[in-house]
Amino acid sequence: MKPQIILGIESSCDDTAAAVLRNGALLSSVSSTDMTEHERYGGIVPEIASRRHERVMMAVIEEALVRADTTYADVSAIAVTYGPGLVGSLLVGVATARSLGLVIGCPVYGVNHLEGHLLSSFLEHQELSAPTLCLLVSGGHTMLVHIRAVGDYEILGETRDDAVGEAYDKVARYLGLGYPGGPEVDRMSKLGDPSHVALPRPMLHDGYEMSFSGLKSATVRAADANPGLAVQDLCASFVEATNEVLTTKIQRAITEHGLDSVCIGGGVAASQPLRDAVMGLMDTNAGLRCYVPPRSMCTDNAAMIGFACHLQLAAGTALDTFEVAPNLPMVGTRA
Ligand code: KG4
Ligand code: ZN
Repeated sequence: MKPQIILGIESSCDDTAAAVLRNGALLSSVSSTDMTEHERYGGIVPEIASRRHERVMMAVIEEALVRADTTYADVSAIAVTYGPGLVGSLLVGVATARSLGLVIGCPVYGVNHLEGHLLSSFLEHQELSAPTLCLLVSGGHTMLVHIRAVGDYEILGETRDDAVGEAYDKVARYLGLGYPGGPEVDRMSKLGDPSHVALPRPMLHDGYEMSFSGLKSATVRAADANPGLAVQDLCASFVEATNEVLTTKIQRAITEHGLDSVCIGGGVAASQPLRDAVMGLMDTNAGLRCYVPPRSMCTDNAAMIGFACHLQLAAGTALDTFEVAPNLPMVGTRA
């Protein structure tokens, strides 16, 4: 039987990414971004991002095919992110995928970017299976999802305001740490001591709902009120507070839902203190298995898009009819 070769394409924000998977195994993953122009504005400029996708998309796809030792003729399906994201950026990915699909003569499937992040741990960890719990922490979303099966998701709780990544980026911006600031706050936090400043743990005892806007403001106020406070110490306190909220919510979910495994996904899942905190849950919960994706699979990439499509094809839920959807919500029921 011919192998299933999926070409994944991701362009929802600033990363132009392509990946090739063979029967669900990753053969190559290529990603290209250039923050220099965005940095001047302190955030992603949609027009700059979409124009760059146009310039580099084909080169990125071809590099992914070369690294996978495949050609267009080998591709049996194309998986592309169709939302949520920046409309101009999504359009470049979807238009490219549809054009290639016509030329190659293969189906084109739309993948929800959030579902890509949600299932990213399954690619590396073959032993991970549903039902499980996933903490999705990206720049635009923060949610706790009970994965009952591929395509069957129960959203236990979400942030009511800022996503965790957004709070990281805003704190970083205030402290002059550049953009995107998440990785820098993460790096600084490892050098600091959280005991110098106490920050709140918002909604710690409120079920699965979360809120990070107040914590972000409290962090900024603490910086103003204590000019002598080292940036590293402030970052350490901020990261400790977010991680305590996130792990408390995870703990509540595994206890109340009787789950024996946990995974994480999204850009903030690349944060080492968060990865350590989640893995640490295994020390206090007998029999619990925790999984974190490789760091390259946390921030936006096309491997997770191709892999989500592979799982959806196996489950019979892959979408071959779709439109670009900038505000696409996470699929699933809300608890
Ligand atoms: O998943 P992602 O690449 O894009 C979205 O779908 O939003 O997540 C981007 C977010 C940004 O807020 C970025 O600052 C954050 O992930 N991030 C990190 C780290 N790497 C990226 N936050 C904390 N520690 C990191 N190492
Ligand atoms: Zn993302």
